[in-house]
Parts: sequence; structure tokens; C-alpha cells
Amino acid sequence: MVLYLNGEIVDEREALIPVWDRGVLFGDGLFETVRAYDGKPFRMSRHLERLRRGCAELRITGIPADGEIEAAVSDLYRTNVGEGDAYIRITLTGGTYDGGKTLARPADPNVFIVVQPYGGYPERFYRQGMCLTVSSLRRNPDSPLSRVKSNNYLDTLVAKQEASDCGADDAVVLNSDGYLAEGTSSNLFLVMGESLATPAADCGLLPGITREVVMELCDNLRLPCVTGYFTLEDLLDCDEAFLTVSTGEIVPVASVDRETIGEICPGAVTLRLHRAYGDLVKVELGLP
Ligand code: PDD
Repeated sequence: MVLYLNGEIVDEREALIPVWDRGVLFGDGLFETVRAYDGKPFRMSRHLERLRRGCAELRITGIPADGEIEAAVSDLYRTNVGEGDAYIRITLTGGTYDGGKTLARPADPNVFIVVQPYGGYPERFYRQGMCLTVSSLRRNPDSPLSRVKSNNYLDTLVAKQEASDCGADDAVVLNSDGYLAEGTSSNLFLVMGESLATPAADCGLLPGITREVVMELCDNLRLPCVTGYFTLEDLLDCDEAFLTVSTGEIVPVASVDRETIGEICPGAVTLRLHRAYGDLVKVELGLP
């Protein structure tokens, strides 16, 4: 497999990051995960906008232009994938460490892009829904780690390990005030009848590109969708729930801590939105 590293296409065995990189030492840096359908990345411009917003917040400069990133992605797709869907990961690190532990960085970021074949989430998640647990970790709404897609993914790794240790597929994460925030690496929606709700952006969550697409679809389908502060009880009482993430689209939730959500999973609204999502991807990317 080849990848993009700082302007060059190189074999993965030659793609090396120095041990003095701030990403290696501190998790300093950001990434984006994008799904390509038949070689066409979905909502790439929104992912790149989010990356640039994160860079502005963390004062990271010296990122390649969008055109260079997009050209690298299509090159890598041609060489590594050829046909079908792909997983795209654009990563940038804080660059060389010079002893300073602030956001002032002496060098440009190291930037690398990986594109590889992708088969999507396991089918059983769409047929039966995911079984979630409630993470013991909390999102901190005041921390940039909650709202940027940071290379520091330790909270997510711990939360997913906790879920795996108790036999669950994934976890829902509350914030430090006890309100619902998101999934470990996804956003969360609740459905009551034909109305939807999702935690507000200031709950301590990554504003997902898929979350944004689902809100657009709700508008198109005239399904009311509000953002706000919701509790675990709201989740347990709702008729349907689902997670949203670029790599998995819309993933139904069957249970939380072994308590079943609603009567039937996947529910009718979840299915309708997931179909509409698939249609939108096709129309927007010009796929048959
Ligand atoms: N995860 N919240 C968190 C903490 C995430 O890491 C992600 C994405 C999302 C959903 O964002 P989007 O809809 O833009 O994919 C929400 C990526 C896919 C990952 O873990 O690689």
C-alpha cells in the first residue's frame, strides 16, 4: 500500500514519523475519516472545513491546500483500491517538538493520508441494532478535545474497551453535567414518534458531518429535529435511537445497558432516514 506523506506518495514501509513529533509525544494534531463510495468521497469539503476549524482552534498552520489533499486521495484510491468503497484517513500532527509545551510550534505539521478498501460496519448492526453500555468516562464540554477531531483518542479507546469488557458493541458517553453527549466515535439521535432529538453542540461532542446530513434529511422529510440537553432516561424512554458516523452512516441502537430501546429495532424512522441517506449519497456523488 502507498500513502501520502508531506507532499509525496510513498510506500507505507517508508512512511516514517520522527520520534520527536508532537503527535507522537502528546497526541497533538487532528484527523478526519471520510468514506468514499465507488471512489468518490462523500462530503469531503465539509470534512476539510472541520479540519481547518480544528487547526484554527489549535493554532496549527502549514496545512496543504484542499486541492492537494483531494488530488492525493484520488491518486491513492486508484493505486490502493481501484473499485468499490474506501476508507480515507487524513492525519496531521503537531510537527517537531522543541521543548515548548504551548501551542507555538516550530515546524509545519506532518501530514499523511491513507486510503484503503472499506466494507462498512458489520451487517448485523443494521439488522439487529447495536448493544451499547454507558461509559464511565465523561465528555468535558469545556475541553477542545470534545469538539475537535484530535489525534488523542485515548478516551475513546478506554470507552470502547469498557464496552467490549462487558460484552457490548459500543458505548454512549455522557458529559460532565450528566447529559447525553455522543457515542464513543459517533453522534447520537433519539426518536420519539416521528420527532428527533440530538444533543446540542455545546454538550461536549464532535459536531459530526453525518449528524449534519441527518439534520438536513429531517428537514427534507419534514421530520422535526431539535437539539438540546437530554438525559439517559430520555434515551431509555425513546422509541428508537441511532448513532451517526461517516464510516457507518446511520446505525440503529437496540439496547443500552441491556435495556431494550423501543418496540422494534431498527425502527421505521431510522430505516427511512438510512434509506434517504443512501439516496442522497448516490444523487450527490452521481452514482447509479
Ligand atoms: N469518528 N464523535 C466522535 C468522537 C467521532 O470520533 C466521530 C467520528 C463522530 C462522527 O463524526 P462524522 O459523522 O463526521 O464521522 C462523532 C470517526 C469516523 C473515527 O473514529 O474514525
